[in-house]
Amino acid sequence: MKKTAEFKQGKLAVDRRQFLEKSGMVSCMALFGLGFFTSCTEEEDPMPDPDAGNGGGAGNGIQVTQQAVQIDLDRNEALASSGGWLLITQARVLVVNVNGQFNALTSVCTHSQCDRNWSYGNEVFTCSCHGSRFDTNGQVVNGPASSPLRSYGVSRDGDNLTISLS
Ligand code: FES
Repeated sequence: MKKTAEFKQGKLAVDRRQFLEKSGMVSCMALFGLGFFTSCTEEEDPMPDPDAGNGGGAGNGIQVTQQAVQIDLDRNEALASSGGWLLITQARVLVVNVNGQFNALTSVCTHSQCDRNWSYGNEVFTCSCHGSRFDTNGQVVNGPASSPLRSYGVSRDGDNLTISLS
């Protein structure tokens, strides 16, 4: 009878040790998993994608420097015809084809500085943050913005368009 009790105690001791070992492993795995999960969620922090515009990224024949944006029109169908436009997020520039002439404006709205929520139609840019509208020269069509968008000089050499940012 006593042997059975010792055996049971011994068995209990082994079970407890196994339990602690296993629970320790589970805890470590849980902590590791939590750390992994945390690092995964940190990775998801939405860093603005500099090329998230409507086609205005590197690899589309667009080169951005601090001084200028160069666009290979041969590689950008968006600008091929009148009414075509691009938001080049990396440079914070809007460029539009108006009857074969190209206008470039800052994409930083003068109302509250939204810089990438633009749409275009009927020769008007609309900032969807609060609805300000601007014509193709950057002049305010209706607010709440009260100041025009800055415009940039544009020159064309064959299929190469250069927007001067200075
Ligand atoms: Fe453009 Fe407010 S930031 S309308």
